[in-house]
Amino acid sequence: MMTRSHCYCFITIFFTLLLHTLASPPHHFCKEDQRDALLEFIAEFPTGESYTWNKSSDCCFWEGVTCNHRSGQVISLDLSYTLLNSSLKTNNSLFRLRSLRHLNLMDCNLRGEIPSSLGNLSRLLRVLSLGGNKLSGNFPIIFANLTKLSFLGLNFNNFTSTLPVNMSEFINLDQIYLNHNNFSGSIPRSISKLANLTDLHLSNNIISGEIPESISCLKELRLLNLSNNKFRNDIPRCISNLKNLETLDLSSNNLSGQIPQDLGNLSFLSYMNFSHNLLQGPVPRGTQFQRQKCSSFLDNPGLFGLEEICQQTHVPNPTSHQSEELSEAEEQVLNWIAAAIAYGPGLLCGLVMGHIFTSHNQ
Ligand SMILES: *[C@@H]1O[C@H](CO)[C@@H](O)[C@H](O)[C@H]1NC(C)=O
Ligand SMILES: *[C@@H]1O[C@H](CO)[C@@H](O)[C@H](O)[C@H]1NC(C)=O
Ligand SMILES: *[C@@H]1O[C@H](CO)[C@@H](O)[C@H](O)[C@H]1NC(C)=O
Ligand SMILES: *[C@@H]1O[C@H](CO)[C@@H](O)[C@H](O)[C@H]1NC(C)=O
Ligand SMILES: *[C@@H]1O[C@H](CO)[C@@H](O)[C@H](O)[C@H]1NC(C)=O
Ligand SMILES: *[C@@H]1O[C@H](CO)[C@@H](O)[C@H](O)[C@H]1NC(C)=O
Ligand SMILES: *[C@@H]1O[C@H](CO)[C@@H](O)[C@H](O)[C@H]1NC(C)=O
Ligand SMILES: *[C@@H]1O[C@H](CO)[C@@H](O)[C@H](O)[C@H]1NC(C)=O
Ligand SMILES: *[C@@H]1O[C@H](CO)[C@@H](O)[C@H](O)[C@H]1NC(C)=O
Ligand SMILES: *[C@@H]1O[C@H](CO)[C@@H](O)[C@H](O)[C@H]1NC(C)=O
Ligand SMILES: *[C@@H]1O[C@H](CO)[C@@H](O)[C@H](O)[C@H]1NC(C)=O
Ligand SMILES: *[C@@H]1O[C@H](CO)[C@@H](O)[C@H](O)[C@H]1NC(C)=O
Repeated sequence: MMTRSHCYCFITIFFTLLLHTLASPPHHFCKEDQRDALLEFIAEFPTGESYTWNKSSDCCFWEGVTCNHRSGQVISLDLSYTLLNSSLKTNNSLFRLRSLRHLNLMDCNLRGEIPSSLGNLSRLLRVLSLGGNKLSGNFPIIFANLTKLSFLGLNFNNFTSTLPVNMSEFINLDQIYLNHNNFSGSIPRSISKLANLTDLHLSNNIISGEIPESISCLKELRLLNLSNNKFRNDIPRCISNLKNLETLDLSSNNLSGQIPQDLGNLSFLSYMNFSHNLLQGPVPRGTQFQRQKCSSFLDNPGLFGLEEICQQTHVPNPTSHQSEELSEAEEQVLNWIAAAIAYGPGLLCGLVMGHIFTSHNQ
């Protein structure tokens, strides 16, 4: 027969086991081929020898490595901010990670050109982040083989080519960071094929020509930054078809003509910058424009109608700091009034009671 203490004992054991199962880490079984590919990859770099990866532990728990819980295949490799200090070799062992979805080698001091064998990376790759290195050469056409790619970060490198003429192979991209390079030529008209594109960062390059009208086909576009390039001629009117646009930075180019009036209709457009161009004519009216800072229109000799926008910053409004102090002072006054209201009757009551008491005693 089970006694009461037996019963408690079983319950305790049961919960201990349950807690143990919940607390113990999930089991991975690092695949040998995946482990070897990772080790070969890191060994290619002069700094790789001393990297923290320990062969005697499960590679799925190595720093920067993520595996699929079931298959044990490496699905993500994040070595950002690791000093690799070399180039990516052609016979790179990375492409043996056949299930890789995320590859982040940002700020690794990588140099040289991207080898074409990178096109042999997993077709499942969605995120490729190589920003902040010293990579040079052409826009790697081989990325076209990565048909699932949705994030491409090549910003802050030293790429020098034009953009690929035919972008139809990049249709899954939704964020492109090519800013701070030496990309030249013009924006290909085929950019219109990137139907899912939300963010296009092309600032700080030497891209020239007109902004193609086809850009207005990018219905999902939220951010367009073309700042610090050599774009010229008119801003296409149809840019106001970009109904989801939130941020438009066209500053420091050689754009001329008028600012399209219809941009004022874009209800999500909260930030615009047209400064340092050759724009002319009236600044469109409408709340979207009135909300911008004066500096967003600076240095466009032919632009007029800025009085209202630019006055706002000149009117001696209380600065935010001053108004904070003001409201603090106001708050204090309010607190005193509140205190007076709260304690006043009590105080009065006390005084009256005291008076009655003392006068009764006398
Ligand atoms: C690697 O891991 C094993 C066991 O986990 C440990 O004994 C060994 O000291 C580690 N080696 C290094 C270089 O950290
Ligand atoms: C990186 O490599 C270059 C030459 O290959 C070398 O001169 C430099 O000292 C290395 N930098 C570091 C931090 O190891
Ligand atoms: C990339 O794949 C192609 C064909 O699948 C193959 O011929 C080539 O050797 C591979 N490149 C590398 C570096 O393995
Ligand atoms: C890649 O090739 C170089 C010589 O070109 C060789 O030293 C290195 O071991 C090779 N790496 C791999 C992973 O095959
Ligand atoms: C790109 O894909 C094609 C067709 O699938 C293949 O033949 C080619 O080897 C791949 N290129 C690279 C660099 O992997
Ligand atoms: C672009 O090229 C110029 C001239 O070759 C060079 O001075 C500059 O550093 C390059 N810019 C970048 C971001 O690499
Ligand atoms: C970028 O590349 C150009 C030409 O290829 C070279 O003159 C320049 O020094 C490079 N700049 C940097 C920062 O690497
Ligand atoms: C662009 O590439 C796609 C896919 O490879 C192809 O079908 C199309 O014909 C190409 N277009 C042009 C103009 O080269
Ligand atoms: C856009 O994204 C949706 C859902 O994320 C996807 O089904 C569709 O294939 C994508 N379209 C293109 C052209 O990549
Ligand atoms: C556009 O790019 C420039 C240069 O990289 C940067 O200074 C600016 O902040 C960017 N604009 C927006 C709205 O992010
Ligand atoms: C800007 O355009 C004007 C006239 O269209 C031209 O004279 C000037 O050289 C251009 N400036 C740049 C930096 O391209
Ligand atoms: C923008 O609004 C104005 C007036 O409200 C209207 O006349 C014009 O057709 C609108 N433009 C677009 C592209 O919707």
